[in-house]
Parts: sequence; structure tokens; C-alpha cells
Amino acid sequence: MLPQTLLLWLTGLLLTTHAALHHPAPPTPSPPPATATPIYQFHGNNTWAENLAIRPSGDILVTRVDVPELWHIHPTTGTGNLLHRFPHATALMGITEISPDVFALAVGNATTTGHPVAGSWSIWTVDMNSRIPRIKELLAIPDAEWPNGVGRMDGLAGVILVADCVKGVVFKVDVGKRTYEVTLQDPTMAMENVIGINGVHGYEGHVYYSSTAKRTLYRIPVDHRVRATGPAETVLADTGVDDFAIAPDGTFYLMIHAGNQVLKLGRDNEVTVLVGHGNGTDVAGPTGGQVTRDGRVLYVSTCGACGGDSPWVEQGAEVLSVRLWG
Ligand SMILES: *[C@@H]1O[C@H](CO)[C@@H](O)[C@H](O)[C@H]1NC(C)=O
Ligand SMILES: *[C@@H]1O[C@H](CO)[C@@H](O)[C@H](O)[C@H]1NC(C)=O
Ligand SMILES: *[C@@H]1O[C@H](CO)[C@@H](O)[C@H](O)[C@H]1NC(C)=O
Repeated sequence: MLPQTLLLWLTGLLLTTHAALHHPAPPTPSPPPATATPIYQFHGNNTWAENLAIRPSGDILVTRVDVPELWHIHPTTGTGNLLHRFPHATALMGITEISPDVFALAVGNATTTGHPVAGSWSIWTVDMNSRIPRIKELLAIPDAEWPNGVGRMDGLAGVILVADCVKGVVFKVDVGKRTYEVTLQDPTMAMENVIGINGVHGYEGHVYYSSTAKRTLYRIPVDHRVRATGPAETVLADTGVDDFAIAPDGTFYLMIHAGNQVLKLGRDNEVTVLVGHGNGTDVAGPTGGQVTRDGRVLYVSTCGACGGDSPWVEQGAEVLSVRLWG
């Protein structure tokens, strides 16, 4: 190697190292195909894991819709235990972390086949910072008909977004003031023969949301109060997307519920299948997911194909891991 080349190479290396101190290194795509590895499976075909949130420790909290239960899953050992069964409710929906190791989730009455009870819904918080988790009601949302996805607005602390899949709106909940209001309402969120808005996550000045009825991922530009500043835009049409996860590098992972697949939507708008296939049991009915803070692993909750959405597949609900890179 010529000294000059060596110098350029070293300089390049130093620059790379320097940049890495300030920004996470861009992920190297894992060589296809990625695989979905079961971390934990619930017993029985009628089980349904609805959503999950990753704790700072790396453990996972999983909500169930078939029973009003919050589960604690340990990926390193592949074990899980019931953390809390909510009284006076039948179902848990979306969950998100609101401050370090404190989570908010939607609790109320519905079944895996629908039957949501308007007026039964509230947001609860689960504080995992003490040895015995502190679990309490944050506020009731009497106007809600069926909260589905629960998400955050990146860079906006103390606010959670709650997607109501029957009412077709996004509620903004102020965690500190314990108040709520309808902050977004759009025809693209409306229920039709099936539920409307499903997953909701705020990212880079937009609220992204999926619609089950429209089979589309949308976004709406918003201000710092999460009020719309422009019309809804289609991000990806013709996809049966349930909830979705946004990686630290801006890649979206879409849970294609009845298609038994997870799609990857790159920053370059390229869409590829990450894992799963039509009749496969490796990703049976994905419902929600989250990428670890380091961007390396995607965890996916499933309903085990939900007994009927895909009549050729049915199994116990699962939590899966997909190594994205590294
Ligand atoms: C929700 O379901 C629980 C358990 O079955 C029941 O005790 C409660 O009354 C229901 N709440 C409403 C508002 O229907
Ligand atoms: C699943 O399998 C059934 C029965 O073999 C077939 O009719 C159906 O087209 C398959 N679906 C997909 C999405 O591959
Ligand atoms: C779950 O469903 C599958 C597919 O229909 C079936 O083969 C299996 O026996 C069922 N398992 C139980 C425990 O019912």
C-alpha cells in the first residue's frame, strides 16, 4: 500500500470514527433472508398478543387482547410471566414508554372479534422502577370507542397519542395534566366495514398512522401541539398494515397482519419483505413491534394468525425477534 493511500485510508477511518461518536453508525443491512426467532409463545390458539414495549433492561412488556393481561417477557432466557391482570376490563391494547421504564397502555372492554364497549376505556401507567411495579389509572377517556395503537411524538415528552379505530380520531393525552382531547381527525382514519386507524407514531414533525380499512400507511404534518398543519399524505398504499415500528435510522417495519409478514420500508422508499410469507407460521399474524434502542433487533408481537384471518395458519400468539444487523 502506498503511503499516500494509507494516509487517505487512515484519514477516512478517523473521520468515520469521529462521526460515529456523534451519530449512531448507519446500520448494515442484514444479509437476506432475515429470520424470525420465537422468543416466547403463549399457550392456545385463541391467545392474542396485541402490542409490546421494550424496557431499558431489554425485557419486554406485552399486552394481550384475549385477556386483560400484561406480560413480562425475558428475551435472554425465553421465559415470560404474568405481570398484572387488570380488573374490571377484558382487553389491553397499545403500549408505549413515556419516561424511563414507565409505560402507558390502553385498558378497556373488547374481544378479539370486536365488541368494543364505548365508555369502558382508560389509560394506565406501569412504573417498573421499583421492585414491585406501580400500576395505576392515569385517566379515563369516556369519549373513546376503541383505542388501538398508543404511541409517542418523538421529541415531545409528556404527550401520548391514542388511535381510536372506531371513532376514527387520534387523542392527545397530556400525561402531566391528565387531560385528553381529539387532536387529529381525518377521513383516512375512519372505520368502514372494518376498523380504521390502527397504529400511531409521531416522527420528525409528522404523525404516521396505519388504516386497516384503507390498507394504507399515512402521515400528517403537525405542529408542536400535534395539530395538523397540512393534509394527510399516503406513505404506502395497498398494504394490510396493522401497527408498525420506526427504527432509530428511520426505517419503518410494517406488521402485515393477515399476510403473515413484516415489510421493511427504507428511507429511500424501497419496500422489501423482511420476514414471513402468505401461509407461513414463522410470522403468524403480526400485530405490533418495536426496534431496540441500538437498532439491532426488531421484536414483533403476533396473534398466532388470529384464528380465521388466515385459515391455513393458527397457533399460539408469540413474541418474535428479528436481528436487523450486527
Ligand atoms: C367491562 O368488563 C368487566 C369484566 O367483564 C365488567 O366488570 C365491567 O362492568 C365492564 N365495563 C363496562 C363499562 O361495560
Ligand atoms: C394458502 O394456502 C391455501 C391452501 O393451499 C391457498 O388456497 C392460498 O392461496 C394460500 N394463500 C397464500 C397467501 O399463499
Ligand atoms: C391450533 O390450530 C391448528 C390449525 O387449525 C390446529 O392444527 C391445532 O390442532 C390447533 N391447536 C390446538 C391446541 O387446538
